[in-house]
Amino acid sequence: MSFSRRALMMGAGAAGMAATLPFHRGVAKTDTKQYRLAATSATVNLTGDGHPNTAVWAYNGAVPGPELRVRQGERLQVIVTNRLAEDTTVHWHGIRLPNLWDGVPGLTQKPVRPGETFVYEFTPPDAGTFWYHPHADTLQQLGRGLAGALIVEEPEPVSGVDRDLLWFIEDWRLDDKGRIAGGFGNRMEAGISGRIGNTVTLNGRVPGPVLVEAGERLRLRLVNAALARIVALRFEGHKPLVIAHDGQPCDPYAPDDGRVVLGPGMRADLVIDMTGTPGQSYRVIDDFYRELTYQLVDLAYDPGKPVREPSSDAPSKLPANPLPEPDLTVAERYEIVLQGGMMGGGGMMGGMGMMGRDGATWAMNGMAMTGDGQPNMPPLLSIKRGASCVLALKNETAWWHPMHLHGHSFRVVSRNGKPNPRREWRDTVLVPPREGADLAFVADQTGDWMFHCHVTDHQESGMMAVIRIA
Ligand code: C2O
Ligand code: CU
Repeated sequence: MSFSRRALMMGAGAAGMAATLPFHRGVAKTDTKQYRLAATSATVNLTGDGHPNTAVWAYNGAVPGPELRVRQGERLQVIVTNRLAEDTTVHWHGIRLPNLWDGVPGLTQKPVRPGETFVYEFTPPDAGTFWYHPHADTLQQLGRGLAGALIVEEPEPVSGVDRDLLWFIEDWRLDDKGRIAGGFGNRMEAGISGRIGNTVTLNGRVPGPVLVEAGERLRLRLVNAALARIVALRFEGHKPLVIAHDGQPCDPYAPDDGRVVLGPGMRADLVIDMTGTPGQSYRVIDDFYRELTYQLVDLAYDPGKPVREPSSDAPSKLPANPLPEPDLTVAERYEIVLQGGMMGGGGMMGGMGMMGRDGATWAMNGMAMTGDGQPNMPPLLSIKRGASCVLALKNETAWWHPMHLHGHSFRVVSRNGKPNPRREWRDTVLVPPREGADLAFVADQTGDWMFHCHVTDHQESGMMAVIRIA
């Protein structure tokens, strides 16, 4: 490799360097990994060679932003500079951290003004797949490309896995010149499914075939970073096992129907054995919106002979993260009713106390924060620090809502009144129309925490509130 080529690659920034570090190393508690992120405008190619470029807003000019990697127990410092023409912040989605690093403008920090720099510093307690994105003007900033993955590695490498792949899923609404279409925050759209786009990218590109080898076992980290699109991935000819939701390990299991369903904000880690035939291709389909089924990508097998017999051992469970276990015998139960939006036949749902006041379309228990939030509004709930509690969500609307709690992971203990045998941990739960979900957790972090729908149009038009832990 020539010197200039090497220099160019080094210039790709800390993420490139991080990728060349050994995956596994002992970590002293004092180690700090430092990254720099600049939110800036940039031009990228989303749709492939020969297709027009797209003007975006992006971290370090890249879509997605650099993949940040730390080991569990390692301290992370991220120096964020705002080179946009408007305020921003960075939220570390799914990371359990002290409230002051949570990245919510006006609530946990002052907005980072254009030209300013803000330093985030925390130690992610949990290994897993997380991500980061702005929490200011979120619909537009996320929708124009500001997002990236944050991977917290297990202290020991996971045995039996040949490759660790990330599929960072984003959804764009492009016009025929490859430009991001305007109209963010369209009221009509906010009352239905939100801003669903027309171009889905994996790791910043409409993907070509993903090359695989027969016999290998992949760990696939999926992140749904779309504004509004829910995906349901089906791997033709393969049997993925889910090994983690939202960064938190679960007993490996085959999802119903082989479909991996992820609402905006949600992640899943999969183990997939490459049991296909060398030289063949297999489709990965997204059929969440049944009438809009499309092929996301192909798994293309190398024609060579299998690298080994496909593993017959079930993947072992990932090591548990240090999550506090809620005590359901004493847990306080809080009902949260999701309200608003359009009904099936048009017309607004009734029963929204503050509906219409700030242009709200959605609400929870009659309360509606809009835009970047109104931190002076009373909290939806106040919970005593250290208490076990259950958030009993009831979706009275005709739409799906991926509900995200900041700073905590919760167990989904029941769905629609029925105990959920898997009781998996998540930070974002997808609640189907007119269904419910009970979420149990220990309120162990003091502060004002956002609780909102991750369909960004819904969040910004009322389905957002603060849960106070004191
Ligand atoms: Cu990923 Cu409040 O968000
Ligand atoms: Cu929603």
